[in-house]
Amino acid sequence: MIGFQGQLPWHSKKELTHFKKTTLGFPVIMGRKTWESIQTELQGRINIVISKSYKKSPHENVKLFHSIKESIEFCERELLKKCFIIGGSEIFKQTINFADEMIISRMKNEYPGDVFFPVIDFSNWEDTSQIDFEDFIVHTYIRKEKLNEKVFEADN
Ligand SMILES: NC(=O)c1ccc[n+]([C@@H]2O[C@H](COP(=O)([O-])OP(=O)(O)OC[C@H]3O[C@@H](n4cnc5c(N)ncnc54)[C@H](OP(=O)(O)O)[C@@H]3O)[C@@H](O)[C@H]2O)c1
Repeated sequence: MIGFQGQLPWHSKKELTHFKKTTLGFPVIMGRKTWESIQTELQGRINIVISKSYKKSPHENVKLFHSIKESIEFCERELLKKCFIIGGSEIFKQTINFADEMIISRMKNEYPGDVFFPVIDFSNWEDTSQIDFEDFIVHTYIRKEKLNEKVFEADN
């Protein structure tokens, strides 16, 4: 579970700090609903919002794309070495098949939720590191087999 009533289900300052440290300096790609839940630029990162309904960018420092594919192509064109898909569920579902790495914070407590992370076949992923924080554990999963370029099928 990753969301509840349009927001994060938990309040964890340390998890937000970990998120910032991890993503700082890289583009962050998010769905329109995730943007609406934060509604503020994530400083020090190129903020990218995916939406078909928005006709113009919701913020001067946010880049709007109408498909995931266009956003990834933008990152490639700009020679950005990596980008982070930061949610929500709809965007994760469409991108997980071409991600090389997943950095997942698993919260230790239980929370109510109405939005879920996609079902993953973890046998395709190696859990390469676990960092233990007070209220969550950060796992870094690396895809076991390198992806063929053709796997890139976002928005289909
Ligand atoms: N725990 C976490 O790490 C985490 C991270 C992020 C978000 N969240 C939570 O997740 C929830 C939001 O997730 P969500 O799944 O409901 O929404 P979302 O993925 O953030 O946004 C969905 C919207 O993205 C746009 N979209 C999706 N696929 C598209 C495509 N292929 N082409 C163009 N536009 C596309 C559509 O916008 P339009 O309708 O405008 O076309 C769609 O309505 C919130 O509760 C948030 O707090 C949790």
